[in-house]
Amino acid sequence: MKYKTKKSTPHLKSFLKEVGKEVNPVIDQILLTGIDKKFHEIVKYQISSGGKRLRPALAILSCRMLKGKTKDVLYPAALLEILHNYTLITDDIIDHSDIRRNQPTVWKKFGKSMAECTAMIYAASIFHLPPHVKNKEQILRILTTTLKAITNGQFLDILFEQAGREDENYVVKNRYKEIKLESYFAMISRKTASLLAACLEIGGLCANADQRDIKKLRYIGHNLGIAFQIQDDLLDIFGNEKEFGKKIGKDIIEKKLGNIIISLALKEFAPPEKKRFLAIMKRKKVSSKDIKNAIALIKKTNAHSEAFKIKTDYINKAKKSLSSLPQNKWSHLLNELLDFSVIRKG
Ligand code: IPE
Ligand code: IPE
Ligand code: MG
Ligand code: MG
Ligand code: MG
Repeated sequence: MKYKTKKSTPHLKSFLKEVGKEVNPVIDQILLTGIDKKFHEIVKYQISSGGKRLRPALAILSCRMLKGKTKDVLYPAALLEILHNYTLITDDIIDHSDIRRNQPTVWKKFGKSMAECTAMIYAASIFHLPPHVKNKEQILRILTTTLKAITNGQFLDILFEQAGREDENYVVKNRYKEIKLESYFAMISRKTASLLAACLEIGGLCANADQRDIKKLRYIGHNLGIAFQIQDDLLDIFGNEKEFGKKIGKDIIEKKLGNIIISLALKEFAPPEKKRFLAIMKRKKVSSKDIKNAIALIKKTNAHSEAFKIKTDYINKAKKSLSSLPQNKWSHLLNELLDFSVIRKG
């Protein structure tokens, strides 16, 4: 059977709003407990700056789809969003990103040392589970494993960069010279898909679902996660800055071969284009004109359509597996979320 993705996702938008309303107060409570009033503004900044709340939405959807209640999953859902935001705060330091969700990043606004302290509070908060949560031990184990998996991905992402970080000896010496597509998938499986798989798995555990269904949930989350990161890479090059909320061409500036569009384009370039593109990528200071020229070169290749096909294949795998789980209002919303992840602009 062939699965096609839809063009719009109206029910999902209002569901995500509801998720925010339910989960935001729990997140605030977890993050701010034990923090001096003086620092509440700094700690709240990242989580209040917006965000789609996809990770808690995934946990709630899988729990409800398998007959759990929202109250069974609310705390774990909040922790997953906190974990996600922890990775964003540190990712923006690593990637030298100034803008996220159309606002200054935490380090840009408060400085690097304050951002690092804030990240510590987010990391310390991800194990804050009340006693009533089902399968608590297992959930805590998944949270730990996932944080380590994401970090494995971030290590690789840094080593896939082609220049920069001249003051970081280890990175300069250990960089990958070229990256096969398998290595790209290994990297994004860790940095992005591991968390989305954990969200659906944890939702299932909160519903006390059986092992066979939990395995399917992880599979759906993994495939969704791969497609989700491909879309992020795509938007980094071809997106609209206001809708995306992040700087376009940032992965070119950061010389990242760990962006599938850049990686596919480089494979296709004829030698002169490849030379021109790499010269831009390796420039110490990449200007906005350089970015324009680099994107123009990419547009002459099939990188966009190839990446589009790959992400659709991953989403179709997730949809196929979802169709073998109970069909109800929640699975239909999850199906919309799968569609959304490959058509989203932000
Ligand atoms: C951004 O994730 C990081 C990636 C894994 C690409 P989102 O696009 O879900 O970020 P927010 O939370 O909605 O801002
Ligand atoms: C996303 O990597 C994965 C994370 C662990 C945050 P990116 O570096 O592509 O994420 P954005 O584009 O900055 O959100
Ligand atoms: Mg980044
Ligand atoms: Mg990054
Ligand atoms: Mg990105």
